[in-house]
Amino acid sequence: MTEQNKPMVIGAMPEGARDQASAAQAVQEMFSAIAPRYDLLNHVLSLNIDRLWWRRTARRFAHILARADAQVLDLCCGTGDMAFALQRQAGNGGAQIWGADFAHPMLERALRKSHGRSPKWVEADALTLPFADSSFDLVTSAFGFRNLADYDAGLREIWRVLRPGGELGILECSEPNGMAGKFYGVYFRRVLPAVGGLISGSRSAYEYLPASVGRFPSQTEMKARMRAAGFQEAEWTPYTFGTAGLYWGKK
Ligand SMILES: C[S@@+](CC[C@H](N)C(=O)[O-])C[C@H]1O[C@@H](n2cnc3c(N)ncnc32)[C@H](O)[C@@H]1O
Repeated sequence: MTEQNKPMVIGAMPEGARDQASAAQAVQEMFSAIAPRYDLLNHVLSLNIDRLWWRRTARRFAHILARADAQVLDLCCGTGDMAFALQRQAGNGGAQIWGADFAHPMLERALRKSHGRSPKWVEADALTLPFADSSFDLVTSAFGFRNLADYDAGLREIWRVLRPGGELGILECSEPNGMAGKFYGVYFRRVLPAVGGLISGSRSAYEYLPASVGRFPSQTEMKARMRAAGFQEAEWTPYTFGTAGLYWGKK
């Protein structure tokens, strides 16, 4: 394949990163640095709506989580809140929830919050998962997928570890259109980095958030990329006036 024919890699590119490896390293360092304040900031900056989004996503997959033999992976699990919502939805029905992340300090917090009980936590890179093909009935990722250095490679890796008929749920930030979008844009690009920077001590991490949402593919493009990775079906559902949304896919 010539350089010209190569499909363009799209993925996160924090300021100062030169290539995929340095982008991934910058993301890992950034989340490791903000881990101590991550939960507090999440709740403050989303006005606690993040809890509703995790819960709504878990409910979307109730049919899988109710199964006693279900194997479920929450990718880029951070301090674990999406995985905990999946666990609560599953109850004591037997579904096994796993959370994976490559930032050790985030996982340490997840482990502490779970008091040694399920989910199981794994330190792993989402682009090279330590799981066999067709291991999971469901893979989710909340506000994590956008940080991958190569979105197509991430989708292919998720597709690989899903069983045939398995489902994918990617919960991501988005920016609403129209007048609401204008107001939200002011909050998202000005207020959020200022408040986030003040509380976390890392303004660049909270400038990276709107910048990475701005770089993320449109809903139409993302669904096309999901299909190109092998998903038979791909949909997007807006949450809270389109300030977030859920990509759903089926292998
Ligand atoms: C914004 S946090 C989201 C955490 C959690 N899912 C939540 O909803 O609060 C993004 C997480 O993605 C993780 N992450 C980013 N790139 C990753 C990769 N390539 N492999 C594993 N984890 C990754 C980061 O370490 C971070 O913990």
